[in-house]
Amino acid sequence: MSETLHTDVLIIGAGAAGLSVALRLAEQHDVTLIVKGSLPGGASYWAQGGISVAVGEDDSIASHIADTMQVGGVLCHPDTVRMCVENGREQLEWLMAQGVKFTQSGSTEDAAPADSNVGNLHLTREGGHSFRRVVHSDDATGAAIQKCLTANALKMPRLKILGHRIAVDLIKDQQGRCVGAYILNESTRQVEVFAAKAIVLATGGASRAYLYSTNPDVASGDGIAMGWRAGCRVANLEFNQFHPTCLYHPNSRTFLLTEALRGEGAVLRLPKNVGVTVGSNAGLNPGSSNDNALGGSRFMLNYHPLAELAPRDVVARSIDAEMKKHGLEHVLLDISHREPEFIKAHFPTIYAYCLELGLDLTKDPIPVVPAAHYTCGGLITDLHGATNVPGLYAVGEVACTGLHGANRMASNSLLECFVFGTAAARHIAQTIHQVTLPGQLKPWDDSQVMESDEAVVILHNWEELRRAMWNYMGIVRTSKRLERAAHRIALLKNEVHDYYSRSKVTRDLLELRNLVQVAELMVRSAQLRKESRGLHFMSDYPDTDPAQAHDTVLEPE
Ligand code: FAD
Ligand code: SIN
Repeated sequence: MSETLHTDVLIIGAGAAGLSVALRLAEQHDVTLIVKGSLPGGASYWAQGGISVAVGEDDSIASHIADTMQVGGVLCHPDTVRMCVENGREQLEWLMAQGVKFTQSGSTEDAAPADSNVGNLHLTREGGHSFRRVVHSDDATGAAIQKCLTANALKMPRLKILGHRIAVDLIKDQQGRCVGAYILNESTRQVEVFAAKAIVLATGGASRAYLYSTNPDVASGDGIAMGWRAGCRVANLEFNQFHPTCLYHPNSRTFLLTEALRGEGAVLRLPKNVGVTVGSNAGLNPGSSNDNALGGSRFMLNYHPLAELAPRDVVARSIDAEMKKHGLEHVLLDISHREPEFIKAHFPTIYAYCLELGLDLTKDPIPVVPAAHYTCGGLITDLHGATNVPGLYAVGEVACTGLHGANRMASNSLLECFVFGTAAARHIAQTIHQVTLPGQLKPWDDSQVMESDEAVVILHNWEELRRAMWNYMGIVRTSKRLERAAHRIALLKNEVHDYYSRSKVTRDLLELRNLVQVAELMVRSAQLRKESRGLHFMSDYPDTDPAQAHDTVLEPE
């Protein structure tokens, strides 16, 4: 019989959210941090653009709040938005105190005022923001943060970090309190039992539900699915954000071309000789609307006055429309009109990566397509990051705090990870003394199941699920397509359930089970919203209906 492993706080996931909670709590409590795969990982590591904080000369808290609410399609919760925006500076100072190095400005135009605590930081611009507001470490902000925080975490004596562990399910006691979790140890292939006074889900989003995604493999919605099975309420899962500019290249892994490129002047073009130039680019300086040497016409001017810096949902839909209209496999992102030295200095990672593939950012327009990027919905939490299940917290992309509403503004999610990581850590520290550490918990029983003998079935089901989500629950939806998605997902769910109940758990099986669960919740949510708002665009309900200006909440079964 397996022994229960005890810890004060169990944190599942070591991205920006999990590390933020862990670093704050492990000073005074025994904390165990478990992570799928190795460190540093998660979507956090791949963040490029940066963190939005209103520290610019002319910027203000009020403006950052207003932009977030505007992009969020009236669904953002004002108290959450205020809390995140007001705490941005504190989080930035904390990160700098941890040792994260952010890019400094060479000029006054794009810098935070020199007299502020944060020095002379370079601020970049992204879609939806009225000001330069994005603090960054070149074009690899996530890597800079994750490497630094992970190194600090590894030095904390009361923080135990266990890699290659996959949370399978949460454990509740008879009173309905979350008291632990079953965790698959990938090395021993045993399922371990952890008990804790508080459990934090920091497992990230579910964008790998889609065929094309900017996210790493770990983004399989595990926390949302586990929380749902444990009785958490979920909200707004129809709002899946597609990033407009993912590199399109046969020899490339998933690779993002940051929105900051557009913030620094990159424009979107059709391939050369496709379409004709319509509209005017008067007053919008970057690039030209005419064909240049390698790329064709700009098209964003026909869709939105902010052109390439329109909110992300508008840009992704416009690219999708152009690709469908002209039968294209991709469009082009072009920053070649900026000085080569500027491009190399500001985007060294992207420049080097593209060059390896034979694409020179200083000369060539780069082929790009939209890809699933961010899960705006998730487990509903309060302002402490607490879910409706006592003892269970959700922080980061796994959560729905009310910050993003119907559409997340760029670079607001790392901010949310740190602000809510702090809030959850404080709340846990304040309340943990009232909780008794649970005793022995029921061991995992796999005596009735067999070794998984048809791994290929898992692969086929994954592909089928992702394709169905891409085709029927993508950037543009219709009621008919959603019905198709629901039908296919129901069949897959039955198959996966059947397989799961007969087989020993593996990482692939667990991820598939979770993705199918979350995909079902996403489609259910989308079917409830009979309008277009933010990221949810229905061509048979193209208008926004003021009567539906509310969250889509699904109650646990
Ligand atoms: P993650 O960083 O994804 O971490 C999740 C963790 O949970 C991982 O450690 C994972 O291994 C672990 N995990 C998952 N399931 C399990 C399980 N079952 N058991 C154990 N462990 C598990 N946002 C911004 O604000 N600014 C940006 O510039 C930006 N750029 C981005 C660029 C890219 C390419 C991507 C993909 C996203 C970007 N985002 C950006 C979004 C942002 O990075 C994420 O929303 C944020 O990092 C999520 O952090 P997290 O800690 O919630 O999750
Ligand atoms: C990017 O750098 O374009 C991603 C920013 C984000 O997703 O917030």
